[in-house]
Amino acid sequence: MKKITVVATALGVLFALPLSVEASPKDDLKAFQGYFKTRFPNTKFDDFSNGVYSIDKASREQWEEIEEFPPYELAIEEGQEIWNKKFKNGKTFKSCLGGEKNLAAKYPHFDKKRKEVVTLPVAINECLEKNGESPLGYKKGKMAALLSFLAYNSRGQKIDVEVKGKDAEEAYEAGKQFFYARRGQLNFSCAHCHVDNAGNKIRADILSPALGHVTHFPVYRSKWGEMGTLHRRFDGCNKQVRARPFKAQGKEYRNLEYFMTYMSNGLEWNGPGARK
Ligand code: HEC
Repeated sequence: MKKITVVATALGVLFALPLSVEASPKDDLKAFQGYFKTRFPNTKFDDFSNGVYSIDKASREQWEEIEEFPPYELAIEEGQEIWNKKFKNGKTFKSCLGGEKNLAAKYPHFDKKRKEVVTLPVAINECLEKNGESPLGYKKGKMAALLSFLAYNSRGQKIDVEVKGKDAEEAYEAGKQFFYARRGQLNFSCAHCHVDNAGNKIRADILSPALGHVTHFPVYRSKWGEMGTLHRRFDGCNKQVRARPFKAQGKEYRNLEYFMTYMSNGLEWNGPGARK
């Protein structure tokens, strides 16, 4: 119990106001981005791609030093090798996914025929399996390396996720629900920490704004000592509130990613990244 009290006190009063239930995704987007613009008037919109470093000068300086010798560079190289390596049948990823340039910026998207959100890691594993290869784990290792290479090749593209049609809206709503739902023994939602308390301190960390959360993955995280994917990070945050994490690339996290990426529409893709 002790830790719980510490966290709750650290954050003060919690007042997560969910986005309105009847609002359209467009209204949500305006309210969500408007909130952060008002809350952090000195942060330029494009800079929200840089997470907590967009709002805290001291951590930014440390981070800029790290970026001089980016710890994710090796992962980009490893990813490039995996991308170019021939499958046993002689084909490569290109046979299913096309060229690497700007590929990552096409995901996540809602696939109307399949009636579900398709993310890049899912498309990668489907390509492997279609060609008789084993799928990769979704949280780190080879998948994180491959995603680093692909993120790098989409740098500078603007996030432009579409939510169109009834099924897509349902997936979006499910993701939104997930984001605002309280969970775990601490009974916190993502929004409690990354909307209401963005910029506030929790233990040794300053909480990053949710706007821009998805732009820079995968990341080399000092705490992990290696690369990790967005869904690995979701896991970590779920565990922080002592909730059981969901399956990486399961429907829940894919819908969450869809909602969160839509909320960052207009920002630039700038992965891979480095975080504390
Ligand atoms: C108890 C507070 C807390 C809750 C609740 C929480 N997080 Fe976090 N989260 C953190 C902390 C602390 C960090 C590390 C510092 C930072 O970047 O905010 C973090 C980091 C992140 C990052 C990485 C940010 C970056 O710039 O790389 C993402 C993405 C994220 N959280 C998503 C979520 C999602 C999605 C949820 C809900 C499932 C959630 N978090 C719930 C505390 C929380």
